[in-house]
This record gives sequence, C-alpha cells and structure tokens, in this order.
Amino acid sequence: MEFSIKSGAPEKQRSACVVVGVFESRKLSAAAESIDRVANGYLAEVVRRGDMEGKLGATLLLHNVPNVLGDRILLVGLGREREFRDKEYRDACKAAVRTLNETGAMEAVLFLTELPVRRRGLAWKIAQAVLVAAETPYQFNRLKSKQEEVRRPLRRLTLTVTRRSELAEAETTAHQAQAVAEGVRVAKDLGNLPPNICTPAYLAEQARSIASTHGMNCDVLEAEDMQTLGMGALLAVARGSAEPPKLIVLTYRGADAAAQPVVLVGKGITFDTGGISLKPATEMDEMKFDMCGAASVLGTLLAAAQMKLPLNVVGIIPSTENMPGGRATKPGDVVTTLSGQSVEILNTDAEGRLVLCDALTYCERLKPAVVIDIATLTGACVVALGHVAAGLFANDDTLAREVLAAGDAAYDRAWHMPLWDDYQEQLRSNFADMANVGGRPAGSITAACFLSRFAKNFRWAHLDIAGVAWKSGREKGATGRPVPLLAQFLLERAGAASRSSGA
Ligand code: BES
Ligand code: MN
Ligand code: ZN
Repeated sequence: MEFSIKSGAPEKQRSACVVVGVFESRKLSAAAESIDRVANGYLAEVVRRGDMEGKLGATLLLHNVPNVLGDRILLVGLGREREFRDKEYRDACKAAVRTLNETGAMEAVLFLTELPVRRRGLAWKIAQAVLVAAETPYQFNRLKSKQEEVRRPLRRLTLTVTRRSELAEAETTAHQAQAVAEGVRVAKDLGNLPPNICTPAYLAEQARSIASTHGMNCDVLEAEDMQTLGMGALLAVARGSAEPPKLIVLTYRGADAAAQPVVLVGKGITFDTGGISLKPATEMDEMKFDMCGAASVLGTLLAAAQMKLPLNVVGIIPSTENMPGGRATKPGDVVTTLSGQSVEILNTDAEGRLVLCDALTYCERLKPAVVIDIATLTGACVVALGHVAAGLFANDDTLAREVLAAGDAAYDRAWHMPLWDDYQEQLRSNFADMANVGGRPAGSITAACFLSRFAKNFRWAHLDIAGVAWKSGREKGATGRPVPLLAQFLLERAGAASRSSGA
C-alpha cells in the first residue's frame, strides 16, 4: 500500500472515500462536523436515525453526500470520547481499512489522524495509522492452491494533518513507519512458513538475500566452524536433527567503522519438538514459531537499512531444529559452551538458552555497544504476562528503560522482570558449572539468569517473546512482534547518535 500526507478540509477532498470519525453516542468529530456543515446537516441526520451510534469499530459507508467533492464518506465509530486512547485509535484505523478493502474505493483520505489521542503526538498517530493499515489486510496464502484475491483492494491511503507546518514531520514519520511495516511483514512471513520449508538453511538463504537487496553483509557459520570455535551448547541442540545448523551474522553499516554496533541476537529454532524431553503432541505444530526471534531480527535489520539509520547493527541468529534422534543429546549430558563454562543438560526442551548462550559469547568479539536477545524462550513467560507484553530482563537499568520506552512508543510493549542473584541458585548442578533448567518456580526468570552468565562483558537485555510472537486458535499466525519495538529502539539511538555528533 502507498501512503501520502496532506492537509486540507474534508469536504474538499476529491477522493474515492473520505474517512471521518463519530464518537459515542452520535457525536461527530471535528472533520465530520466540517462535512456536515457544507452538507446541510446530512451526517447529523444519518446519525440521528440511529444508523451510526459511534460504537468503536462500527462503520457506515455513505454515497452521494451533498456538496462534498469525495465520492464516498466512510463514518467510523470511535467509542466514548473520554476513553479514546491508543488501542481505540488503532481499532478505529483497523476498522476503516477493513471496510475500505471491501468497498470499490481503491484510494482514500483518512482524517482519523487529526483526532486528539491522549499523551500522543502527531508522529505517533501517523506511524500507527501506517502500521495498522499495512498489516490489517495481511494474509499468508502462498501455500494455498487457490489465491483468494481481494477484488478491489485499497492501494493508496492519504493521511491528513491539521496544519501545513506539520507536513514535513508527518512525511518523515510515514516513511519510517513503512520501513517498519515491511520489517513486520518479513517477520510474519518467515514465522508463518511451515517447518519443512523454513529450515536453518532457508533462514540463512533469506538473510543472504536481504543482505544483497539492502546493501548489508552476511556471513554464515557452518557446523564445522562452530566445532572449531567450541560452540558445544549450540551443537548439542543440533545433534538430533538431520538439518545442518547455521549461525547467521548479518551486518548493517550505517555509521563509521569505529562506532560500536547494536547487536540483536534472535533465537532461530525452526522446529522445537523438545528433543528427547519430547513435548506433548497437542499444539506441537506451533513450535514452528520457535524461530520468531530470528525472524524479528531479520525484519528489524531490513527496516534499519531501509531507514538508512546512522548506526551499525549486527544480527546474530543461531539456528537449528531441536529433534529427538539416535545421536540426540540426552538428559544428563554435560557440554562445554563457547565461554568455557560447562552445562548439564537436564532437559533437552530448554534448548533456546543453549543456542543463545554460545551466540551471546560470540557477541564479545563484535565489541557491542549493547546486545539485545529476542527469544520465544519459556512457556512460563506466557503464564506470567499472557499475550500482551514481552518479558524484559537486563543487566543494565538504563538499557532496560530505553527498551521499555521504545516498546511504549511503538505500542509493542514489554514489562521489566527481576534478574536478582537470588534466583541464580536454582541453576546449581552437582556435575557441571550449571544446569540448563531451574525447576518450575520463576521459569522465565531462571532462563534469563542462565543467559546472564554469558552476558557479563557487555550491556545486555533479553526479551522473552513466547507470549507475543504469534497468535493461536482461529487467528493462528505470527504477529511480527517485536519488530516495532526494536525498530523504535534503533530510531531513538540513531537520534541520540546524530544529536551527539552535532548533526
Ligand atoms: N520454545 C519453548 C518455549 C515455549 C513454549 C514458547 C510454549 C511458547 C509456548 C522452549 O524451548 C521450551 O520448551 N521451554 C521450556 C523450558 C523448560 C523445559 C524449562 C518450557 O517453557 O516449558
Ligand atoms: Mn524447547
Ligand atoms: Zn524452544
């Protein structure tokens, strides 16, 4: 979808459809009022008849509204004015785009961006409108034999601002949001692909192709390289699988070589059976989404490159399947990690931390400014935070605050969890430096504690995205989260970098 920005009166838009809001109960928004005035009370009359109460998400399409230049007027319910906040704004945008996709209008002008949203400015409203509009029509149809095409899909959406002085800011923001939307789409597609297609080799291939189309560098380490380096934990997970593991290193250079990179590490388990500690059959198919951390790293790097951020960013993706097999790792096996620390693998289903710990140690050689890992790491995190917030853990409070703020700004939220030393003792082992599991209590915290032992030499944050990376049930599918959070984090850092260099 194409986006553009404009300022002007709603009644004067020569457009296939002009979208304006109506609050509950039956209160016209400023843009709707403006149309109503030239239309001699036409909208007020429609609303009075009871066809549009203003319920959040309701829509009513009007033709032949007198004295306006647009072909159609789409009324969108906004709910109660006093309760109109982030979620309501997004829901209203979603309803508008859904309806537009079902009508003949292939182009529209959206006035919802002019509505006041508490605590949010113009940039936020523009970015969210772009993101919501780009992702609302998303479907993953490529493996269906008959493609259900939308007959006349919305092709072009114009977003409005109240003053001409706001045009420039809105245009920049819309551009950036389109890059983020593209990153979200890539992350969703990779997540939704079945595990027989999206293997570690496939992820490596996709990383290479993203690198070549966006001017990035991509290196892929093979099993022999991991062996030479001493990545005993990552290799232990790969042992049960017939698919060769890959360690993908994708580098975006937007700043000079001396600038320390932001490193994003994404868990890339393309299918998690649990290994010898086999998972139950129910819903095991959803473990194809166990590479959504990796997908979010690829999507974010793509967005960063498209936005030409003045930063260096490296994506590291340890990727393998976790399968049971004759050579698979057994509960009780002890392995030596790249860091030199030994691990007793008591549960082969706690494989995410095993691939991540070697990837984190690998980060040291990149002299990172900060490292953020992103992983569908624990079912316990889903129990703690549900499907709303990602779990955030960090060894540095300033970094934690930066990540939380990015999540809030992008409406892709995380919640700060404790990483106190008191939890570390749950990882004690009689036979190695540590065990890979810490028992039932505080499962997401002990997983983070395990990782923290490999992140001592840099500022590090960990996002447990087990609850937010995909949806189950009827709407089963990858969400593309936390690409918006990560892209916002990079944007903020890029802003800080250019301010401090006097640019
Ligand atoms: N990929 C899973 C985590 C997961 C499970 C995410 C269900 C979303 C839904 C991870 O590899 C795993 O199996 N974790 C175990 C850890 C346990 C063995 C300590 C878990 O959460 O059960
Ligand atoms: Mn597992
Ligand atoms: Zn897993």
